[in-house]
Amino acid sequence: MFLGILMSLSYSPAIPAAHQVVAQMRLDPFWAFVQRLHYWGSALLILHAVLHLAAILWVGRTSGDHRARYLASLGMFGLALGYQITGNVLPYDRHGVQTAAIEGSIAARVPGGGPAASRLMMGGEGFSPATMELWYALHRFVLPIALLALLFMAAREYRAKRDVRFDVRLAAVPIFALILFSGFVASPFGSVATADDARGYDALPSWYTYPAHLLLAAGQKAIPNGGWIGAILVPALIGAALVALAWKPVPPAITRYAMGAAAILLLVGGLNSPSQFASLTGTRDPVGVKSVVVEKAKPQDPILAAKGKVAFDAVGCAGCHGANGKGSDGGPRLADLHKKHPDADFYIRYIKNPTSVKASSTMPAFPDLKKEELSALAEFLRYPIPTK
Ligand code: HEC
Repeated sequence: MFLGILMSLSYSPAIPAAHQVVAQMRLDPFWAFVQRLHYWGSALLILHAVLHLAAILWVGRTSGDHRARYLASLGMFGLALGYQITGNVLPYDRHGVQTAAIEGSIAARVPGGGPAASRLMMGGEGFSPATMELWYALHRFVLPIALLALLFMAAREYRAKRDVRFDVRLAAVPIFALILFSGFVASPFGSVATADDARGYDALPSWYTYPAHLLLAAGQKAIPNGGWIGAILVPALIGAALVALAWKPVPPAITRYAMGAAAILLLVGGLNSPSQFASLTGTRDPVGVKSVVVEKAKPQDPILAAKGKVAFDAVGCAGCHGANGKGSDGGPRLADLHKKHPDADFYIRYIKNPTSVKASSTMPAFPDLKKEELSALAEFLRYPIPTK
């Protein structure tokens, strides 16, 4: 927190100046070190919060006398994640902006209050300069106040019980490791974001959003446009269940099994999905997919394209990508894609199995479409789409 205050002296969330400030910082040895400590320290905070929470759940000390401590640990995890999510966009690099935009669009997909919640969270419709202002305010004021309140309560609790000895030597080990690590390993950073990134879908998941990414992909595959079930509903239910444990404890054996099952699911999901992470250090720009075969522009087959337009609505593409592929909360705009991908092959491969083209894809696969339907969809998409 102290390092953040130090950095906030020169930082402003303006676009694109924010990127310049961070780029400048990284050139200066002292400020570069401060920034690394800040970044890796926050990663350590998340790791510590997860381990602390897991240890409490393992021994089953969640209620009664342990309630305050358990809830504080839960709160600490939430805050650490909040710091990470809001801080990620502040350097205004491509990955940060795309990630924020994707997070907003996932929220917008929740039926009912989703769109309103997304507007609240993004400070308007989609990613904009207001998002930078808002997330910076959360990062700099709201989360720190919550953290101070939590630390104050924790201090009172420990003073009242006096049952925990604080061993400085124990804390010195991770802090020393952190300083050493930050001396050698650069924090991730990428090139400056552009307006396109505010609607981009190319960002690979970050290490701390990876579980949510797996759940999102699973939800999306189970129910068209159901990604939010995995990425928002399931985590919310788990969170509610964890809070409930403070009043309604269950035998530790049950929480142990649940944690084991979650770990196994995460491992299996991770191994099964060919997805990669965004680079952990150094440059982390999203990589767009290039067409392998660039066909010479041959005239569009209007009949085939018309069939493609019908299929686009009939099989549910429009549900995520908007009418005529104009883009919606569920998926990116496709109407300009013909400029990048004039070949049918790209579309056919993408629709049949999105992860074979883009490893991090969360779009459901359509393996059962007939060959003609695939060609028709490709013919429709690889040319400019009339907007009416
Ligand atoms: C459940 C929502 C959903 C449905 C249904 C869906 N898509 Fe997608 N689609 C996405 C998302 C999200 C992306 C962004 C990248 C990714 O995760 O694959 C995407 C990406 C794409 C891309 C690549 C865009 C790019 O910029 O590279 C194409 C092409 C595409 N979809 C076509 C289709 C077609 C055609 C259909 C219907 C057969 C369809 N999609 C159905 C959600 C969906």
